Amino acid sequence: MRNSLPPVPTKLPEIEVVAATRRGIPLVVLAAAGDEDAYGSSGRTGEIRELTEDVPRWVAGIGDAAPKDFRQTGAALARTLRDAAEHRPIRTVQVALPPDVTAEHVGELATGLFLGGYRFVVTTSEPKPSMPAVRLAAGDDRAVPEYAEAASRVRILAAAAAFTRDLANTPSNVKNPAWLANTAAKVVGGPVEVTVRDEKWLADKGFGGVLAVGGGSASPPRLIEMTYRPRGAAKHLLFVGKGITFDTGGLSVKPADGMHLMRTDMAGGAAVIAAVRAIAELKLPVRVTALVPAAENHVSGSSYRPGDIVRHYGGRTTEVGNTDAEGRMVMADALAYGIDRFRPDLVVDAATLTGAMKVSLGLRVGGVFATDDDLAARVVAAGARAGEAWWRMPLVEDYARGIEGELGDVRQAPGGPGGIMAALFLREFTAGLPWAHLDIAGPARADKTYADIVPGASGFAARTLVELAASYG
Ligand code: BES
Ligand code: ZN
Ligand code: ZN
Repeated sequence: MRNSLPPVPTKLPEIEVVAATRRGIPLVVLAAAGDEDAYGSSGRTGEIRELTEDVPRWVAGIGDAAPKDFRQTGAALARTLRDAAEHRPIRTVQVALPPDVTAEHVGELATGLFLGGYRFVVTTSEPKPSMPAVRLAAGDDRAVPEYAEAASRVRILAAAAAFTRDLANTPSNVKNPAWLANTAAKVVGGPVEVTVRDEKWLADKGFGGVLAVGGGSASPPRLIEMTYRPRGAAKHLLFVGKGITFDTGGLSVKPADGMHLMRTDMAGGAAVIAAVRAIAELKLPVRVTALVPAAENHVSGSSYRPGDIVRHYGGRTTEVGNTDAEGRMVMADALAYGIDRFRPDLVVDAATLTGAMKVSLGLRVGGVFATDDDLAARVVAAGARAGEAWWRMPLVEDYARGIEGELGDVRQAPGGPGGIMAALFLREFTAGLPWAHLDIAGPARADKTYADIVPGASGFAARTLVELAASYG
């Protein structure tokens, strides 16, 4: 069908591990910096050179041959192969793996190949041919099972990142709270139970924050509830993700410049949805409950106002200072409900919460606030395994007075350091449990191509959440 949206989830390329290269199939060789037989390549990471022969061949630089070079090279290769397939009928390509690579290297190369050619476009032209299938040739049949295992694990992780990108890139004229909830329910299945709560249920249970924020929109809010409960699980994790399907700022309306980017303001929710799907596919022995409060923050006659006092799930009240601080309003309800209803061992939330975090850490590093040192360290370590960088931020006790309310229990937008004040606000709803708050306002979107990321929604945090869950298994 023409001019329709890409299917969600989009398809990942086919990658297979085989023992040896074959004649007649276009071949890619990898060259490290300083390799003697590098076919004239500098070996620079991600530099792809095409050699002119009947069967196309490429030399791809892998620099120092560190795992991260393999990811970057895989991603550059994905784009080269995708573009080559537009001009010539190339169905399959093989990559000769150097003899000394580890399974980690193969996993990183595959990650780059899975994600580097990602795109999400909605145009009237015919869909472009997808990237050729890739055979990774081990060169030794004894290495095949180990490499294949690495490739299939990273496939699930890459699928989580790609699914997060798909959800976040989907434009908000399609993606309202009901669409997000229904898409989650449709795509995530198997052992994960997905329940969608509507605005009547939310009103009945007292989700005042979600209803206040969602009340300005013609598309009513939803709460997406997901449960993965394997037998013999050691720990019970609660994930909560911000699901603002569009953030105009509400009556405290945002400036026009950049407002369109707020279609990815549900990237934390998307990461949570995709992570639970991946955790179940990996059959990790941890129990995970995930909540995504989904609402559209709009301007209308029924918008909530600065000065309103809103009662959250559980009864605490918030004095609204700025309707653009809507993320914490919906997250407060979901955190309070999740802890009260599911009694988890620990809580992790992900949210594109504050512009201030984007200023602090830029677009490639996520901020992690935590009430527990072990949990903070696990998030950072999980990120390192996933290829996502996190930096711990402080919950400055001396600033906590700022969120004490005058008319209500807590003040929503007290001024001061934005990322920290938002985190201190959320902490009020975490009942003293070990809790980590991931503010991904910066890295949820990319404006440049780097590593396995392309401009647009990055999928950031989904893989960290999966690796974090794996650390408890
Ligand atoms: N969704 C925004 C935060 C954001 C900004 C994400 C830029 C990604 C890029 C959030 O809802 C917001 O507007 N926060 C306000 C809070 C303020 C009014 C207290 C902010 O950060 O300015
Ligand atoms: Zn906002
Ligand atoms: Zn927002």
